[in-house]
Amino acid sequence: MTNTDQQADKILRGATVNFKANPRVAGQENSVSYEAKGAVVISTSGHILWQGAFANLPEEFKGLSCDDYDDKLILAGFIDPHIHFPQNRILAAPGKDLLDWLNRFTFPEEARYCSEEYAAKAAEFFLDRLFANGTTSSLAFCSVHKTCADTLFSAAEKRGMAMITGKTMMDRLAPDNVLDTPETAGRDSQELINKWNGKGRLKYAITPRFAVTSTDAQLQVTGDLYKDNPDCLMQTHLSESAGEIATVQKQFPWSKDYTDVYDHFNLLGENSFFAHGIHLSDRECARLSESGSTVVHCPTSNNFLGSGLFDIDHLGKADRPVGVGVATDVGGGTSYSMLQTLGEAYKVAMLKGRKITAYDAFYLATLGNAKQLKLDDEIGSLDQGKFADIVVLDPKSTPVLASRQEVSETLEDVLFSLMILGDDRAVSATYVAGKCVYKS
Ligand code: GUN
Ligand code: ZN
Repeated sequence: MTNTDQQADKILRGATVNFKANPRVAGQENSVSYEAKGAVVISTSGHILWQGAFANLPEEFKGLSCDDYDDKLILAGFIDPHIHFPQNRILAAPGKDLLDWLNRFTFPEEARYCSEEYAAKAAEFFLDRLFANGTTSSLAFCSVHKTCADTLFSAAEKRGMAMITGKTMMDRLAPDNVLDTPETAGRDSQELINKWNGKGRLKYAITPRFAVTSTDAQLQVTGDLYKDNPDCLMQTHLSESAGEIATVQKQFPWSKDYTDVYDHFNLLGENSFFAHGIHLSDRECARLSESGSTVVHCPTSNNFLGSGLFDIDHLGKADRPVGVGVATDVGGGTSYSMLQTLGEAYKVAMLKGRKITAYDAFYLATLGNAKQLKLDDEIGSLDQGKFADIVVLDPKSTPVLASRQEVSETLEDVLFSLMILGDDRAVSATYVAGKCVYKS
């Protein structure tokens, strides 16, 4: 089917891999469509007009200019639903655990983002890294400073990408230069919402860092903001490390558990994103499930900080399934690459005696994350009408991968080897709204 309202601009040729459904629900074979000699037609407005086998290309599109990627894979761009913009210089900072890492490395670096100049330079570096890794959208934390969020929104807008971010709110247990107050947090967040939420492809996420660094008064303000701005997202951290959980228990002695703290301040819901969720009880999973909240698995970060092993089957229990996304969590996470992140998720699952297939993993990083963000009508697959946010992957990008492909027999083999052995070297090109924004 073609959309005649839009003017065709160009064709991408390659092996198209298009996820249509969750492989864990629809079955592996029903979750993806694959064309070894496929094509995607992109409109001048940056949307997908048509995709399918090149042999079936409608007559009207023949003769368009063509970016030919031969047997490389064309997929929807990766979506990273938990990443910290102002931590782009502190990957690989060796903390004893989460709280030590935050105090010694993270807060001092985030303090620098009070400078617009510092933030603006970093934003270009950060967005370049996303594109070089095939990531076309993200849900990102900024620092506590309003200027940091303004700068990232502005840089993302210029690049035409779908970026969801927000000013971090934190009013205790950190140095003064990364603290706000309930009042300034509420006012600054609302001003940023008014300025950026819904502007082009940008959205605002109300961003309390975590219960540890927000007073009751600030969490109250956060809940009010979320209620007043129901089209915004809410992002925070939950149940990541033992020290963090013990601190929250002391700070909120009345709470049933960590999740109950956020629940008390009305922060659970369909637009709520909780990073980590490693040590959740059945009760917490049931509440997260009931409220439609999402837990975001960040395996490279969890392994690096020694936080623990996420249990995908515990979260997914049939009687109370919690929606799950997968993300890098740079800079607790050690790589911008969603391929490396998927590989690490696979290994974490193995250590828990669980199984993630390559289809499960690539679905999560594309359509799965898009669905959790409620952006699946715009991104996450190659379906007609969506933005042409696309990554082109070279399954033979290194000698090791090239020799591995000589014995790969199926698409599952190729995707699996890419997520275990691949990284940014596997990204041949990245497109945002039809525009090539990265080429290797
Ligand atoms: N919990 C609170 N802040 C952070 C952060 O910046 N990174 C991680 N991994 N966990 C957190
Ligand atoms: Zn984080």
